[in-house]
Amino acid sequence: MDWNPKLYMKYGNERTQPSIDLVSRIALDYPKSIIDIGCGPGNSTQILVKRWPKSEIAGLDNSPNMIEKAGKDFPKQEWMLANAANINISRKYDIVFSNATIQWIPDHEKLLSRLFSIVNTGGALAIQIPMFKDLAIWKAIEFVSLGSKWKSSLSSCGSVFTYHSSGYYYDLLALVSQKIEMWETTYMHIMDSHEAIFEWSKSTALRPYFDELKDENARNDFKNDIIARLKIEYPIQKSGKVIFPFKRLFFIAYK
Ligand SMILES: C[S@@+](CC[C@H](N)C(=O)[O-])C[C@H]1O[C@@H](n2cnc3c(N)ncnc32)[C@H](O)[C@@H]1O
Repeated sequence: MDWNPKLYMKYGNERTQPSIDLVSRIALDYPKSIIDIGCGPGNSTQILVKRWPKSEIAGLDNSPNMIEKAGKDFPKQEWMLANAANINISRKYDIVFSNATIQWIPDHEKLLSRLFSIVNTGGALAIQIPMFKDLAIWKAIEFVSLGSKWKSSLSSCGSVFTYHSSGYYYDLLALVSQKIEMWETTYMHIMDSHEAIFEWSKSTALRPYFDELKDENARNDFKNDIIARLKIEYPIQKSGKVIFPFKRLFFIAYK
C-alpha cells in the first residue's frame, strides 16, 4: 500500500527536526543545485529551501501519494516520481540529501555509490537514518511479530529495513571523500500515550506489518498486542506522558 502523507505528517515537527539538524551542519554556503532523495510530502525539502532559497532544489520519491502532496503544497518546485534504488539521473547536484529514507532501500553499497556519483566535486552527500532496530519499540514489534500468534503471517516483515553501523558507511565513503562528518542523536519525544507511539509508527515502521494483514479484525488484534508490549517497554512518567527515545545516525561526505 502507498504511504499516507496525512498520517505521516501527524508528527511533522518531530519528523522534520532531523532535517533541520542535518541541513544546519552542511558546510556549503552557496550550493547551486540540490536533490532531496525520498522527499516525502516535501517537509524535508522545505528545510533545504529555507536555508538556500536561491538554489535549484528538486525532490524525488517513489510514492505517488507523497509526490502528489508535495506538488500540491509546493507547486513551484520540481518533484520526480522515481525509485532511488535504480536512480538514473544524468546530471549532478551540489548536495544530494536524504532524510529518513535509505533504510527502506536494500544494498547500501550500491545505493551510496550511485548517490555519491551524482554529487558534484566540491559538493556533499548528506544522510540521516533512523536506527529503528536499536529502539525499544523494535523489541516490542519483534516480540509480537515473532511470537507464536503472528509468526506465520508476519515473520518476514522486519526484513524490509536496511541499515548499518557508522563504521560501515565510513568505510564505504572514506576512500572517495575529502572529509566525512558523522554523529548520532537520540531525540527524546514526549508522547501523550503508548497509543501515540503506536500511531507514530503505524505510518512508517509498522506499515509492512499492516500491509500484510488484510483483515480489519486481525489488524486491531495486532495493534492491541503491540500496544500491550509498548506498555512494558516505555514507562509512564509522573505527568502521565511517555518518553519515546529515538536514535538517528547522520553523516555528511564531502566530495
Ligand atoms: C520516512 S519518509 C521521509 C520523508 C521526508 N524525507 C522526511 O524527512 O520526513 C520516507 C520516504 O522515502 C520514500 N521512499 C522509500 N523507498 C524509496 C525508494 N526506493 N525510492 C524513492 N523514495 C523512497 C517513501 O515513499 C517516503 O516518502
